[in-house]
Amino acid sequence: MPRILSGIQPSGELHIGNYLGAVKNWVELQERYESIFFVADYHSITQPFEPQLLRRRRREMAASLLAAGIDPAKATLFMQSDVPEHTELTWIFNSVTPLGELERQTQFKDKSQRQESVMVGLLTYPVLQAADILLYRGDLVPVGEDQVQHLELSRVVARRWNAQFGGGEDYFPEPQPVLTPARRIMGLDGQAKMSKSLNNYIGLLETSEQIWAKLRPAATDPARQRRTDPGTPEVCNIYHLHKAFSPPETVEMVAVNCRTAGWGCIDCKKVLHESMDRELTPIRRRAAEIAERPAIVDEALAAGAAKCRVIARETVDHVKERMGLA
Ligand code: TYM
Repeated sequence: MPRILSGIQPSGELHIGNYLGAVKNWVELQERYESIFFVADYHSITQPFEPQLLRRRRREMAASLLAAGIDPAKATLFMQSDVPEHTELTWIFNSVTPLGELERQTQFKDKSQRQESVMVGLLTYPVLQAADILLYRGDLVPVGEDQVQHLELSRVVARRWNAQFGGGEDYFPEPQPVLTPARRIMGLDGQAKMSKSLNNYIGLLETSEQIWAKLRPAATDPARQRRTDPGTPEVCNIYHLHKAFSPPETVEMVAVNCRTAGWGCIDCKKVLHESMDRELTPIRRRAAEIAERPAIVDEALAAGAAKCRVIARETVDHVKERMGLA
């Protein structure tokens, strides 16, 4: 059975961009594949962070993934830093990763431009990601579009290590991304990708009231100035959210009523709010249950780390053996 694997940073709360672009797909794929998911806490220290807050967010992210539907009976969930082989393999992979490949990563270019002094971890971030994936010899990686370039780098690393040390065998498979139709959800500003670092998101666990307070003023088709102006659904972020949350008949109705100005933007947002409530209410309920019984999170993470340590050790031992390090 092919193995799928993916991670998420605990740099903020789980938002509907993460959910629609990746986590919802994890929940579906765990039914059909051997699945490994983790909270990428070592990745999140490559940007400025506050230790107390990080400690809380790591746990909250794990709890949110369980609430979103990751089932420890079907999938393995763990905390990246609980499996030391991730950093061990990263160091080894540093020796087969060309500097130029790292320097041209768009996320590195974007993030390093926003900082006065850039730490090495931000540059080698994708090498850690390659180690995350290749440690488990993952075949498929369900992610949003922004991770596709990082996955290309993982394939470069796999190819180079295989060529230099594989002894004629492709020990590491070249991992492929698995994208959803919601691979790039825009923020409520309609300007940038929805992201934890920009305050343009809806948290997966926000209350119905909080979500409405954010949806109400959210950007729509900028050409639709008055209630009577017909709109163009394809340029409206609310329409794209409908495609992710509403049934096809509703999406069709939204498109017609937007084009004919049958509905105003607020009418359209009210329907979206109902669709979101339908999908998110059970997730909020599960999150409340998990909050009552925190041992669920601890047990899932402990079992996940124990299982992953065994697989990861085997890989690193093999790699060291092939490289003359053992
Ligand atoms: P992160 O934490 O930024 O995001 C987690 C997942 O959510 C997806 N995503 C989105 N999808 C659609 N629209 C959006 N606006 C949006 N924002 C985020 C991301 O593409 C991602 O799939 N480097 C990774 C974490 C990571 C990882 C890995 C992933 C570490 N190691 C190994 C896969 C395999 C990251 O920062 O994701």
